[in-house]
Amino acid sequence: MMVFSKGTAAAALVSFGAFAQQAAATQMPLPILKDFDETGVLGGLYRPNSTTARSRIGVYIMHAEQDYTSFIACTALPKRGYTTFCANNEASKYGYMSDLNFEYMMTEASTGLGWFKNQTDIDKVVILGHSGGGAMMAAYQNIAENGASACNGSEKIYPCSDAMNDLVPADGLMLLDANYGLSTMAFLSLNPAIEDETKASKLNESLSVYNTANGFVNNTQSNYTAAFKKRFQTGMVTRNNRILDHAQERLKALAAGEGMFGDDEPLTIPASLYIAFNNLFFTQDTRYIHHTTHAWPLLHKNGTTTQIVPSVRVPANFEDYSNNWQSGALKTTVRRFLSTFAIRVKDTFSIEVDGFDGIDYASSQTAPHAAIAGVKVPLLTMGMTGHYEYLNAEKLHLQATSSDTSIAFVEGAQHGIITCTECESYPGEYGNTAETCFNYIGQWLAKPGRFL
Ligand SMILES: *[C@@H]1O[C@H](CO)[C@@H](O)[C@H](O)[C@H]1NC(C)=O
Ligand SMILES: *[C@@H]1O[C@H](CO)[C@@H](O)[C@H](O)[C@H]1NC(C)=O
Ligand SMILES: *[C@@H]1O[C@H](CO)[C@@H](O)[C@H](O)[C@H]1NC(C)=O
Ligand SMILES: *[C@@H]1O[C@H](CO)[C@@H](O)[C@H](O)[C@H]1NC(C)=O
Ligand SMILES: *[C@@H]1O[C@H](CO)[C@@H](O)[C@H](O)[C@H]1NC(C)=O
Ligand SMILES: *[C@@H]1O[C@H](CO)[C@@H](O)[C@H](O)[C@H]1NC(C)=O
Ligand SMILES: *[C@@H]1O[C@H](CO)[C@@H](O)[C@H](O)[C@H]1NC(C)=O
Repeated sequence: MMVFSKGTAAAALVSFGAFAQQAAATQMPLPILKDFDETGVLGGLYRPNSTTARSRIGVYIMHAEQDYTSFIACTALPKRGYTTFCANNEASKYGYMSDLNFEYMMTEASTGLGWFKNQTDIDKVVILGHSGGGAMMAAYQNIAENGASACNGSEKIYPCSDAMNDLVPADGLMLLDANYGLSTMAFLSLNPAIEDETKASKLNESLSVYNTANGFVNNTQSNYTAAFKKRFQTGMVTRNNRILDHAQERLKALAAGEGMFGDDEPLTIPASLYIAFNNLFFTQDTRYIHHTTHAWPLLHKNGTTTQIVPSVRVPANFEDYSNNWQSGALKTTVRRFLSTFAIRVKDTFSIEVDGFDGIDYASSQTAPHAAIAGVKVPLLTMGMTGHYEYLNAEKLHLQATSSDTSIAFVEGAQHGIITCTECESYPGEYGNTAETCFNYIGQWLAKPGRFL
């Protein structure tokens, strides 16, 4: 619900309800709404209490498809002196990824960023991408810095168009629990037990993570057998190839004028929606995606250690949504699937204790692992150890080529940055992880010579 008041001279600037409440709770200035006329893009501009060198650094926040206009960082960073602009793109906010389109995501991210960077009281704009927003923003910054040639190569399943030459680059990039890619997450949600792409009720139980005979244990940690792990991985590769072949066949038909429509046609893929509760195997069996390969700074409530960083997450995803259209199926189109969600995987695909093997990240537009190598501005990657997406902070850091890269993990933070209390072995073990995280970010942004 929005509370409209008399705007500024720009007339598009008004204060609005949900934000206002959040700002009021922290006794900060009311945020103002910027609504980009004739698009669905809008955002809240959150100013800190006072104008300082820090307030001239603007942090730009947008997610791939969720509502981030009152994300925790929107007020946490102004509390530390920075200005934030928390914007939404036009994608449906239902959370079912039914209308995501890679190039639309890129241009809509640029709409908000270009405006923010243009404000007279802002000198530098640093992107904060969280989760799927991190995957999106890594691609965004890479393309904004390097132009369409960063996304139109023959390694891509669906090369981008020249429209990608006009994105406004940011001055820095912060990725918090950036996921392995919208495409990668869709792949990691692909249930190989689906036998018939037109009948989701038909499951091959020998390939199901929910089958106790394979090592599934409900409501606690599963212990999948080595034989099942092999079958499961092979099954995922086989099904991914089958879907990719089908979509590419349909693209040929479309190009030949033999599609359902002249431009595009619907594509519904059962048991492939990347919403977290569909991510399979390592969510149930937490022995995998379990720790970093190398030692990195780990932020505790009371200090920092440098060590191999374990995940402290608890097992999750005990319900099978395979036979559910709304919660399990990826509802897309042939072109949107190929440009946004498709990724190639090799026969060597494997889920390991410290990462994934055999994923061809460069084939996808939305996998940050490939995009990050093109980013030259200062880069910070952070992982929340209460969630499995934390491990990607390490992988991105290792791929980075920027001359200014930093990495840190927040012990016991859940994906949404606040404390994962169910991960704690005693109350208070991890303290206030949001404070720990944003104190670190506040210092990273303020380092002399970086943006100041
Ligand atoms: C902002 O100013 C208000 C009013 O003076 C004050 O109550 C609040 O503590 C300040 N917040 C910060 C983060 O400085
Ligand atoms: C930036 O400001 C200039 C001058 O007011 C204006 O011409 C331009 O369109 C603005 N650009 C964006 C992206 O808002
Ligand atoms: C990729 O984009 C660049 C920049 O627009 C252009 O020069 C090049 O021809 C494009 N390559 C292909 C294969 O379309
Ligand atoms: C079920 O999967 C197993 C393992 O991949 C395979 O050997 C078997 O043929 C499949 N059954 C059916 C009915 O497809
Ligand atoms: C998991 O299963 C393996 C055999 O597949 C067994 O050796 C191990 O003890 C089991 N671990 C737990 C925690 O049940
Ligand atoms: C932080 O607290 C833990 C547990 O109370 C303690 O073992 C550790 O030494 C403390 N670390 C620092 C840097 O104070
Ligand atoms: C696990 O148990 C819950 C109830 O606690 C139930 O809703 C769910 O369907 C069960 N999962 C499977 C795969 O049987």
